[in-house]
Amino acid sequence: MCGIIGCVGRQEETLDVLLHGLSKLEYRGYDSAGVALAGKRDAVDIEKRAGKLENLQEALEGVEMQGTVGIGHTRWSTHGPPTDSNAHPHADCEGQVAVLHNGIIENFQEIRDELVASGHDFASDTDTEVVPHLIEDALAEGASPEAAFREALSRIEGSYAIAAIFTGTEAAFCARQDSPLVLGLDADAYYLASDVPAFRDYTDQVIYMEDGEVARLDPDGWAVTDSSGALVEKDPHVVEWDAKETGKSGYDHYMIKEVHEQPRALRECLRGRVDELGDQVQLEEFAGLAPPSSVQFVACGTSYHAALYGAQLFREAGVPAQAFLASEYRTSPPPIGSNLVIGITQSGETADTLSALREASRRGAPTLAVTNVVGSSAARECDHTLYIRAGPEIGVAASKTFASQLAALNVLSLAITRTGDSREAIGALRDLPSAVQEVLDESTGEAVAKEYIDADAYFFIGRGYQYPVALEGALKMKEITYKHAEGFAAGELKHGPLALVTERTPVIAIAVGDGDAAQKTVGNIKEVEARNASVIAVTDGESGVERYADHVLPVPESHPRTAAVTASVQLQLLAYHSAAQLGRSIDKPRNLAKSVTVE
Ligand code: G6P
Repeated sequence: MCGIIGCVGRQEETLDVLLHGLSKLEYRGYDSAGVALAGKRDAVDIEKRAGKLENLQEALEGVEMQGTVGIGHTRWSTHGPPTDSNAHPHADCEGQVAVLHNGIIENFQEIRDELVASGHDFASDTDTEVVPHLIEDALAEGASPEAAFREALSRIEGSYAIAAIFTGTEAAFCARQDSPLVLGLDADAYYLASDVPAFRDYTDQVIYMEDGEVARLDPDGWAVTDSSGALVEKDPHVVEWDAKETGKSGYDHYMIKEVHEQPRALRECLRGRVDELGDQVQLEEFAGLAPPSSVQFVACGTSYHAALYGAQLFREAGVPAQAFLASEYRTSPPPIGSNLVIGITQSGETADTLSALREASRRGAPTLAVTNVVGSSAARECDHTLYIRAGPEIGVAASKTFASQLAALNVLSLAITRTGDSREAIGALRDLPSAVQEVLDESTGEAVAKEYIDADAYFFIGRGYQYPVALEGALKMKEITYKHAEGFAAGELKHGPLALVTERTPVIAIAVGDGDAAQKTVGNIKEVEARNASVIAVTDGESGVERYADHVLPVPESHPRTAAVTASVQLQLLAYHSAAQLGRSIDKPRNLAKSVTVE
């Protein structure tokens, strides 16, 4: 999704700071990029290009851009295709202002018609471009840059993180409504961004902006005001993670680095929450929360798979629980009853999840966010927040955040349902980081990936806790290899998908423990074998499934709940090595974005 960076006070380094910031935002997914520079002079310079950031960098080699204040943007198309002219920033007719924007301006067509009728020339198909033209009208009426910016904001409806710079001033202005925006404060420079990594190399002091707030940054200081212009007192937060955590640390891709970070991420997630003896969990932040009588989960993508898993945890503890795709929840809301509504979102900014949570809240349900990002919209808007503490995740395809979501949901369900008989599950949680390390040290995922690299499609099957793992394994595979992959509840295979199974469609079966779920999965594997498909078993060897498998991806023996985590690590490795052999753009798969901030 779109990314924003802006800076004030870096003098002749401004352009370099913007380009560096944009490179840090690339992971969000984008299809064009642009920058604008201004200062105490009568022009705003804008340069923008469709495609990768390198295209913009090449274009900049031949141009003289000047300015001591600047803004930059990576665009993920919504209104209009990814072209040079649709890339941000956008200018008014006179070139007095440059504006960039994340989000969607819902009433843009009506404003655009009005502006065109009054003589404005538009250069793009975007919704954003109405803003510089609205500002132009206000400036023509004698408004100051800040007043003109506010005037434009008062006309637009929808979601936005928006920033503007003007001719003749070293100030930058920005505002947010339903789209993330943060400020970074350094001794002699200020930054604005959609996401902290954009300026984390320069400062760890962050101000989180709230909906309706407007900020002015200039070399002499910064101020945040509310929509009426009244000053808002804001205290900086200190970002805990290090800038190094957003580097590749010698790995070929962020994704594989993040896969290998899982033991550490899990330790962080469980720190202080699972005791050393492994027989108690505690979540101080929820000590006063009454056990819920029922739970609804809302989430998208990988987080939805974590939600399916979470719902099973609660059901096992005797609490009725259901997982919903956030986009469907909003469209067709279920009866809310006395449910606790839990939103799972690693970014805390996914528009569909936020809007489902808002719907739940509007209908009176208490809400709880399970998220990775401190200060994210989900964390700020929900009544309660559980941080998964995975550290920054840059690869678009989620890996360590999924593992940490599953671990955090275990602790959450045990803590808030006050489940007594849970010694075994808690012990397995305590041992989980080392079990994941064992998988990472011993996986043969690379060799297995090679064996099946020419497959027509990959099918993943599992039951119980391993069903969401099968869905997630297939999602990882399709996201980064672009090959057909589907996950099924193992029992459903015979109700349709079996028609697709041939000798060119390996079936990856997750069977852990020797319980009913694993034994029945073994039965389903026999159905597959009879159709000449190869079988890759992800197993701890307890069910005897390896007898029917062509290859085994082993996981240590443990509780089925935690085996879901180790099994998903094997599937991440299988997907990663398949994508690497196919030479795919693993960290930034085509058409996908890390944080999807439009519905
Ligand atoms: C995007 C990402 C997925 C992610 C989903 C939900 O589609 O590409 O990897 O699972 O958003 O993101 P969230 O931040 O809400 O977990």
